[in-house]
Amino acid sequence: MVRSTSSGTNGFAVSTVTSSEATGTGSGGAADALGAPGSESAATATRMRTIHDADLRFTSLSQPQHPDRPTVLVVDFGAQYAQLIARRVRELKVYSEIVPHRITADEVAERKPAAIVLSGGPKSVHVEGAPSLDPAIYDLGIPVLGICYGAQLIGQQLGGVVGRGMQGEYGRARMTRTGPSLLLPDDAPVEHDVWMSHFDGVTEAPEGFTVTASTPGAPVAMLENDERRIYGVQFHPEVVHSPYGMAVLTRFLHERAEIPSDWEMSSVIDEQVEEIRGRVGDARVICGLSGGVDSSVAAALVHRAIGHQLTCVYVDTGLMRKGESEQVVETFRRNLGIELIHVEAADRFFAALEGVTDPEAKRKAIGEQFIRVFEENTGGLTDAEFLVQGTLYPDLIESGGTDGTASVIKSHHNVGGLPEDMTLELIEPLRELFKDEVRKLGTELGLPDEMVWRQPFPGPGLGVRIIGEVTPERVALLQEADAIVREELRLAGLEREIWQSFAVLADIRSVGVMGDERTYGHPIIIRAVTSDDAMTADWARIPHDVLETMSQRIINEVPGINRVVYDITSKPPGTIEWE
Ligand code: XMP
Repeated sequence: MVRSTSSGTNGFAVSTVTSSEATGTGSGGAADALGAPGSESAATATRMRTIHDADLRFTSLSQPQHPDRPTVLVVDFGAQYAQLIARRVRELKVYSEIVPHRITADEVAERKPAAIVLSGGPKSVHVEGAPSLDPAIYDLGIPVLGICYGAQLIGQQLGGVVGRGMQGEYGRARMTRTGPSLLLPDDAPVEHDVWMSHFDGVTEAPEGFTVTASTPGAPVAMLENDERRIYGVQFHPEVVHSPYGMAVLTRFLHERAEIPSDWEMSSVIDEQVEEIRGRVGDARVICGLSGGVDSSVAAALVHRAIGHQLTCVYVDTGLMRKGESEQVVETFRRNLGIELIHVEAADRFFAALEGVTDPEAKRKAIGEQFIRVFEENTGGLTDAEFLVQGTLYPDLIESGGTDGTASVIKSHHNVGGLPEDMTLELIEPLRELFKDEVRKLGTELGLPDEMVWRQPFPGPGLGVRIIGEVTPERVALLQEADAIVREELRLAGLEREIWQSFAVLADIRSVGVMGDERTYGHPIIIRAVTSDDAMTADWARIPHDVLETMSQRIINEVPGINRVVYDITSKPPGTIEWE
């Protein structure tokens, strides 16, 4: 078992887990946990969420990394609202971080935030066990904006009244201005739509607050106290269905809290480069590249900081998509000049997969090989002191149910097979970023679009897209069909709308006729889905003519395929992958 526990850049306790700890976390099984290539897919993150190891917990109450950078703290009361708010704040070029609601006033004061946003959460402060906030936070003189649940807390904690047993509003509601507001933009009409999701709400504002808007179900839809710079909105300004929502956030951040909008992605590069250099000194650093977006961007960023002190390891399992391995090598070794160990291990993987048809057995076989190969090829790097991981912000932060505790939800499965005696400190340069921010950063670092916009790809690769035994011939065949599917989608301009699109090779045969000949060939199944997070998915409504081109090309260009079908199953009940 490998476990390296270290103190991350901002004092977070981080640790790595291996397969033995991570097994049984979902259908992904061993390969997920063992960090087979490409294993940074969304589902891996979700699957790994189930791991709750005491060591994996972290609290984001430690010192901010960049004390001079104006930071907005988004207090998390659960239910994922905090994430979207944090993003919106960043879209307004203000850096934001999510903190658990149990943060104390002292801890807040120590971090010197430029403003605080209280997120949504349970639908009412009267719900049993509803989370609260250290009331001394309101006295720190830091501007506060409460959203939905956050607004109710302000109402309740500062002496107002939150109604009980109210009817509530869900979805669009008509809001009316009831007085001059320092938050609503001047051009917002007297009546306009907002997005609501509440049952109870503030019925009487605390002393010193003025009520500036109401809706049929929320008599106090906005409350403002400019003297204390504390504000609350019952609606959700962060969602697109509140047309003036971003304007409200803008006014709060830039006017009421007087925060400049100057946080840029490029400043992340400069800050990280400086920080990595400071931390690493002249030590050696390794990075397991999967070819996916996160590890690629992390590697490029670390390379920008420390150049040849970084060595990347890319294990080529033979189960990658067509041209993928060449592209990884080309981009990293030739274009970016990164020292790359390219381990061509396809033979070993195929040998391990001989005769294996059960999906879980395949995953295990692939995962085990991966560990071994990685171990053998990093064995010579015993002097490495650091390991780069492409952990993202959403991987780290999760609302821990109603108590809103932030906890690590992605075990560092990419690390998989590091030798036992290696104690490595983690470098996670993307831990402050969301996926789309990582993509932007990748582009700024000079990574090609094909890499930056890559779809999630399962750790076990094409191995789980071949129903039945995985052989080199079948992989080659599937690679061709898969390349056609993806190319046609790209040509149709649909690539970025689709979460994942690929071909599956089924171990059945059907009768057909080509020319004058009877054929008895295999079908290719086209799978294309739309999704936000891979937890649920819908089959993509690809235009029929695009499907037709795919079908014709696959049958004409891929030998042995005589039929093409389109999978129209959503998730649930299906899964995105076929195995
Ligand atoms: P399913 O098939 O469970 O997939 O709907 C959801 C997402 O997870 C990816 N996936 C995997 N990723 N190891 C991974 O790293 C795996 O074993 C694995 N299986 C599925 C899948 O591509 C989709 O994005």
